[in-house]
Amino acid sequence: MNNIIIYGSHYGTTKQYAEELSRRTNIKAISFKEVKEINDYNNIIYLGGLYAGGVLGMSKTIKKLNDVSNKKIIIVTVGLSDPTDEVNKNNIRNNIKNQLPKEIFEKAKIFHLRGGIDYSKLNFAHKTMMKLLYNAVKNLQKEKQTAEDRTMIETYNKKVSFIDFSSLDKIIDEI
Ligand SMILES: Cc1cc2nc3c(=O)[nH]c(=O)nc-3n(C[C@H](O)[C@H](O)[C@H](O)COP(=O)(O)O)c2cc1C
Repeated sequence: MNNIIIYGSHYGTTKQYAEELSRRTNIKAISFKEVKEINDYNNIIYLGGLYAGGVLGMSKTIKKLNDVSNKKIIIVTVGLSDPTDEVNKNNIRNNIKNQLPKEIFEKAKIFHLRGGIDYSKLNFAHKTMMKLLYNAVKNLQKEKQTAEDRTMIETYNKKVSFIDFSSLDKIIDEI
């Protein structure tokens, strides 16, 4: 079987998960920016950082697939908010559904991991986006805030990491 781990990462947390997964499974990991012949692989494990609901690089990469009938596809998101929260998990899944062809969404096994953020490393556009989001949720009544809003408020302007390599176990079982 011909396997590949592909990742989309701006600030390195997704890359860390991809490299650890690569080390544990002996499957090569490369950035989506470097993928050439994706159709050569039978099993594709895609890890992408979440950016405003989008999975970094996923649609662009998946578009390159011609025929998925004999392929196994695993999608792994890496985000700041807690994926064990059901509302949050459903939001992530609905967003993925809109970013993938129906056939691939139905076929894919989907997992969610928690990354981290270091505001001092964010580029100007990302800092501005986070500021706008923060301002939109910080004064909401507590009952109106989602788990995602609360995470954003608690971590705003900080450096936090929720990286937990043991959360890769379930993905390794699937592979
Ligand atoms: C502009 C911006 C938008 C983000 N949007 C989301 C989001 O929609 N959901 C989420 O859970 N995390 C979101 N995050 C947090 C990232 O997903 C998190 O920092 C992740 O670990 C980044 O992966 P990377 O380090 O591989 O780039 C966002 C971060 C930034 C800077």
